[in-house]
Amino acid sequence: MARAVDALMYTLDLNPDIGAEGRVLFLRAQKHPALEHFRERLSCQQTWKPRAAQLEASGYQVDRNVQGKYPLVIVLPDPQRDLAVADLARAYDCLEEGGILMAAQHNDAGAKKTEQHLKAAAGLVETLSKHHSRVFWSSKEAGRPWNEEVLESWRQRGTMRRVMEGKWWSQPGLFSWDCIDEGSALLVNHLPQDLRGHAADLGCGWGFLSAHLLRECPDIDSLDLYDADADAFEPIRRNLGIIPTRVKTRSLWRDVTEGIETARYDVIVTNPPFHDGKTTDPTIGMRFLAAAAGGLKSDGQLWLVANRQLPYENLLNELFEHCATMVEQKGFKVMQARRPKLGARLKQSRGSKRGFFSK
Ligand SMILES: C[S@@+](CC[C@H](N)C(=O)[O-])C[C@H]1O[C@@H](n2cnc3c(N)ncnc32)[C@H](O)[C@@H]1O
Repeated sequence: MARAVDALMYTLDLNPDIGAEGRVLFLRAQKHPALEHFRERLSCQQTWKPRAAQLEASGYQVDRNVQGKYPLVIVLPDPQRDLAVADLARAYDCLEEGGILMAAQHNDAGAKKTEQHLKAAAGLVETLSKHHSRVFWSSKEAGRPWNEEVLESWRQRGTMRRVMEGKWWSQPGLFSWDCIDEGSALLVNHLPQDLRGHAADLGCGWGFLSAHLLRECPDIDSLDLYDADADAFEPIRRNLGIIPTRVKTRSLWRDVTEGIETARYDVIVTNPPFHDGKTTDPTIGMRFLAAAAGGLKSDGQLWLVANRQLPYENLLNELFEHCATMVEQKGFKVMQARRPKLGARLKQSRGSKRGFFSK
């Protein structure tokens, strides 16, 4: 499938003067063979763990945050609208005087709108369409100031803030970022209070399920929060920081589909993701379940919520000795699975990354 990063690299190739020398900053960086051209002078920023891991595996250093000024900043703005404009503002803030900001986005992710936004701030924009994407760029020149009011409003749109009448900290772009997900609310209503021992929350988001465990389950000893999105962790720190508890928590920036710590946990809770971008993909959730089975002790238990139509039952029966649907309501089901089968844990401990999906 054509990707915005292909269009971005195509445009750089067509315009060899852009980025011919000097340092290059790539925001929301993705792996691409053409990056090789900039290898020695490239800084990559990425907060999504699977993408960061791909870049690192190719030998690029990846930072979650970046500082400094660059003559060329390339960016793949997030599809979420607030984040897209915040990404443009961030790219602008990293530009040297005379530098070029180049962005690329897939048409289905709102490229036309993002290009219009860039025009609103920069005035002049050049553009190219390729690979079902648009690439648009502009320069920062002393005699042609960008609209600072527009830029400032974009910076604000991406920031972490208090939401839901100040009860929680969150940030645009996180799952269900300014309201409690109905499925997660249903899950906490059915979690028993006597959950105990070492717990994990897989795909923790801004921490709703974890906060419930800390508040309502006094026998939990430790809690590991896993998410692929590094932006989740500061809201989590604040949301959990106000809960009086003796429980030791750890925030783990991980791709759960690659597995978690083997046979460590007594309890795992999750509202597993089932999307890859805009596409529904139940195999992601299934990989979460396989990771959970690998991460649980032999008498451990998994509690999850899922959209009713998601086909998790067969896999759970394959992975666990016992599996039951505890409640079905409003299009969701809450399920409990207990006692992972030995094979499920052995697969993970032997390093089989895809567990039951790579037989
Ligand atoms: C359905 S949301 C649930 C969020 C939160 N637990 C709640 O109940 O509101 C799924 C979460 O999984 C995370 N996620 C998606 N893919 C992931 C992956 N491969 N590894 C780790 N986390 C992932 C997302 O960032 C998101 O926070």
